[in-house]
Amino acid sequence: MRTKTASFLLALLWTPAWLCALSQQTPVVVDVDAAHPGAAISPQMFGIFFEDINFGADGGLYPELVENRSFEFSEPLTGWHQELAYGNAGLKPSRGGMSVREAESLNASNPHYLHVQVDEPGFGIRNAGFRGMGVRTGEEYRFSAYVRSHGPKTLHVVVKDSKGRELASGQLQDFTGEWQHYETVLRVSATEAHAQLFLDFEEKGDLDLDMVSLFPVDTWNHRPNGLRKDLVQLLYDMHPGFLRFPGGCIVEGRQLSNRYRWKTTVGDIAERKTILNRWNDEFDHRPSPEYFQSFGLGFYEYFQLAEDIGARPLPILNCGLACQYNTSETAAMDEMHEYVQDALDLIEFANGPVDSAWGKMRAQMGHPAPFHLQMIGVGNENWGERYFERYQLFANALKAKYPEIQLVVSAGPSPDGELFDSAWKEWRNAKADIVDEHYYQSPEWFLSNTHRYDRYDRSGPKVFAGEYAAQTTEMARPDNRNNWKGAIAEAAFMTGLERNGDVVRMASYAPLLASVDFWQWTPDAIWFDTLRSFGTPNYYVQAMYASNVGTRVVPTTPQAEKGIYTSTTLDERSHELIVKVINHNASAAPLEIHLKDEKLSAKAKVLTMQSADLSVENTFESPKKIAPVESVASVKDGVLRDVASAYSFRIYRIPLK
Ligand code: AHR
Repeated sequence: MRTKTASFLLALLWTPAWLCALSQQTPVVVDVDAAHPGAAISPQMFGIFFEDINFGADGGLYPELVENRSFEFSEPLTGWHQELAYGNAGLKPSRGGMSVREAESLNASNPHYLHVQVDEPGFGIRNAGFRGMGVRTGEEYRFSAYVRSHGPKTLHVVVKDSKGRELASGQLQDFTGEWQHYETVLRVSATEAHAQLFLDFEEKGDLDLDMVSLFPVDTWNHRPNGLRKDLVQLLYDMHPGFLRFPGGCIVEGRQLSNRYRWKTTVGDIAERKTILNRWNDEFDHRPSPEYFQSFGLGFYEYFQLAEDIGARPLPILNCGLACQYNTSETAAMDEMHEYVQDALDLIEFANGPVDSAWGKMRAQMGHPAPFHLQMIGVGNENWGERYFERYQLFANALKAKYPEIQLVVSAGPSPDGELFDSAWKEWRNAKADIVDEHYYQSPEWFLSNTHRYDRYDRSGPKVFAGEYAAQTTEMARPDNRNNWKGAIAEAAFMTGLERNGDVVRMASYAPLLASVDFWQWTPDAIWFDTLRSFGTPNYYVQAMYASNVGTRVVPTTPQAEKGIYTSTTLDERSHELIVKVINHNASAAPLEIHLKDEKLSAKAKVLTMQSADLSVENTFESPKKIAPVESVASVKDGVLRDVASAYSFRIYRIPLK
């Protein structure tokens, strides 16, 4: 039998060296003054910024599988191919032809359609989707189209895998000489990331097609024009406080003619006017000539998405200025009526009674209840006198009719400098409600700016950190990475947002979504391909904050010292303290959280993200290589003891008495 002394000596021998070293280290002591909670934190504090960049909408969140379904791209046959067929003399080009026509179109906002001429039965065309269509075994896909026939009565639809094997088939039939909508549901027999849609014509003659669609039946909440489930799931899991949409520079457009106009994005999807996406050719290093906006995901769907994920809607509207980095085209002051009216009408669309003009449209689209819109952004990343005077027109009209609606204005493109200072001066004088600041900066900038808001005027406008992301190389460079180096710097910076919750009312990482095949901008919170998606470490940092907000700021020291960053909130609903600790050091540190005046003993829930390797990233193959891991820590006599591992972000949820 082993003696007690022998066991003790053995245990000592087996204790890893790092643990012995740690136990000799002086602990980092975090003092939490739980008895004196301070300012209230906005329940909408951490939310989502959505913009149709990186194929975030068409080809992404909006799961239409057909590219250019309405033949409205500048090259109207983009995405469509005529099938070659084998004849006696080998491969021959066609048994018919296809062209795009305009005469007697489906409607005025969708003026082009496909004219198919079948010379011999067996003529076929195909669409390859957004670099392939992602389909899943056993799932249903609704094929639909508007058809007007000058003879043929049947259209065969086949979904094939990348090797040409049939995965599903069906047909539309009984066409007439008038435009009519037809649909059939196909069940797919195998999962395939690069499926294609084939339309085969077995009767001679001509026919016209428009709004040719292959759409998953299984969307988020099973909506017919719904959204891609795995992507919405990731958004839902964040617990976002708000959803900002539709951008971003997309609000502004390169010219005013392709600015975002919400009214053209609601109602029947066949009547929503497709336009160029401004990210189409923004970057020479990432040209995207096939980038258009179908607006299948339009303002109604954005409001519905916000509601579905429990977020407050925050639409941003054009203020009469096209992107000031591009043309800076400006609507004359006497043309501003339309812009201001759009804002007034949007409030009616979101909140108005069902017998109001726009409230009626909302009800007809399926949502008689209001969407509870409480804030609107006037302008995206705008600046200068022309912006300020145009804002005033909005403020006069909106505040007169809807004084309860908060207006969000822009502090310009950078977090400091002349444009930033002049904007803040203007917004203080104008007594603006909320000012939107953007910072795409280095990880070092984020780490050294945790005190940024400590010195902000408490009586001035509130702050919306509306777009931010640590750029691991430089803003808008294609080699920026979504790694832990950027994400942990954001986590540290966000302690400063939270600690200043009386001034900073909202914050969102940007951009949100990126297709691995079609992106223009990196880093981004979530990456996806035709079937898969994953959250980056940056996404998980946002989710950790948004899911653990609290209702009051609690004084905590140290705030940012020797690589340790902290922030504490009290959640008055669950009666818990939520302590966030970031250790931005290459070595682990023993940690003691002292809960002043709280002599409690309890079990705390701990969420940890950590990696000593700052270059670590998530991938499709390892989507949670770095993601929050749950554990438990004990609190004894008001002290929680733990080890803050190297480069770690921890959240402790400590139940109070
Ligand atoms: O998030 C990408 C872009 O960055 C946004 O569209 C714009 O507002 C900012 O310049």
